[in-house]
Amino acid sequence: MKLTLTAAALLCVATNAFTTSPSFHRPTSTSKTSLNMAVPKADSYSITLLPGDGIGPEITEATKEVLNSLCDRCGFTLEMKEALIGGSAIDEVNDPFPDETLKQCLESDSVLLACIGGYKWDSNPRELRPETGLLKMRKSMGLFANLRPAKTIPQLLEASTLKREVVEGVDVMVVRELTGDVYFGTPKGIEEKDGQRIGYNNMIYSEGEIDRIARVAGDVASKRSGKLCSVDKANVLDVSQLWREVTTDVITKEFPDVELSHMYVDNAAMQLIRWPKQFDTMVTGNIFGDILSDEASMLVGSLGMLPSASIGESGPGVFEPIHGSAPDIAGEDKANPLAMILSAAMMLTYDLERPEEAKLLEAAVEAALDQGLRTADIKQEGDGCQLVGCKEMGKVVADLVSKIDMPEAIAV
Ligand code: IPM
Ligand code: MG
Repeated sequence: MKLTLTAAALLCVATNAFTTSPSFHRPTSTSKTSLNMAVPKADSYSITLLPGDGIGPEITEATKEVLNSLCDRCGFTLEMKEALIGGSAIDEVNDPFPDETLKQCLESDSVLLACIGGYKWDSNPRELRPETGLLKMRKSMGLFANLRPAKTIPQLLEASTLKREVVEGVDVMVVRELTGDVYFGTPKGIEEKDGQRIGYNNMIYSEGEIDRIARVAGDVASKRSGKLCSVDKANVLDVSQLWREVTTDVITKEFPDVELSHMYVDNAAMQLIRWPKQFDTMVTGNIFGDILSDEASMLVGSLGMLPSASIGESGPGVFEPIHGSAPDIAGEDKANPLAMILSAAMMLTYDLERPEEAKLLEAAVEAALDQGLRTADIKQEGDGCQLVGCKEMGKVVADLVSKIDMPEAIAV
């Protein structure tokens, strides 16, 4: 088992708009599960980069430039090596998540993924779709916990379709279970029955799967405001009834200071739009989390700003923007690289034991926005800001990383 986060990480406090990773601790107890343990702080790390499809290669280039600048400033090395995933992997080797990629990922200290998918592969058989590669990656790397922060950014409040007073100050962390549920349950399929085709999947969770995600959520919540809302459909589904029982059990026993509430998923979807500030940490299953995290992201205004972390019990995590591959603007230098840059910040915090450097990255992104730079997705008419492309945004953030003051909480 690798090391737990250091005191430095625990002391590192939220100082800017993007702090997505609270002073997060990985439990040291012998309890059944915890998040994966960070790689001990080192001078050099091996990183697998998965540029994927669509705008993926462009935002990866921009992120690389920013990370190289960070390494130069902070005196450590990231050995970044690319590998294939998604549609580009299908085109090259006829497999959306080749074994070689899995091997390389597992041998790395961490993995940074851009995005996958595109119209080109949409009508392929399921095993040859980019999404299948993503699911295979999550399952084969044991990435059962997906952390999706949605925190409004003061500079971009007007970008949300919701009223200012509703979204100002929103800071929600969705903890989504990522390797179970109807996504992976069997039996599943489409078959002929009584003269017509029927399609079915199985929404299934074991106690163990619920237990381990509840522990992660309890841990996340206890390092945030201590408020945790578990989302299910226990009024209808047996699987949700078990979810509710196990979650209650874990949180009341293991996290007595966490205030746990339960909400049905339909109500949660409505409440997220009605008054999102009632939520701090939310925990839910794979399919509900898929839907609610997209919804939560819209509170922030643009999908182009949101990072995520997928983490398991051991081994490297995968860090990726939550946006898709935007094939319509691919190759046009219009993409927003900030979500991937912020995903790299989550990687620094959760996997590489470099929370100070994560704060510096986040501060540089914030400074770029403060300077009035906007990619097309976050540009508002008449906002007086300057429209820039993906390359320019990357360059400016890289430059800021090399020269802005260290955020106060991390200055040595
Ligand atoms: C996500 C995506 C994926 C999912 C797709 C692309 C398979 O929507 O990461 O949220 O459903 O998990
Ligand atoms: Mg989704």
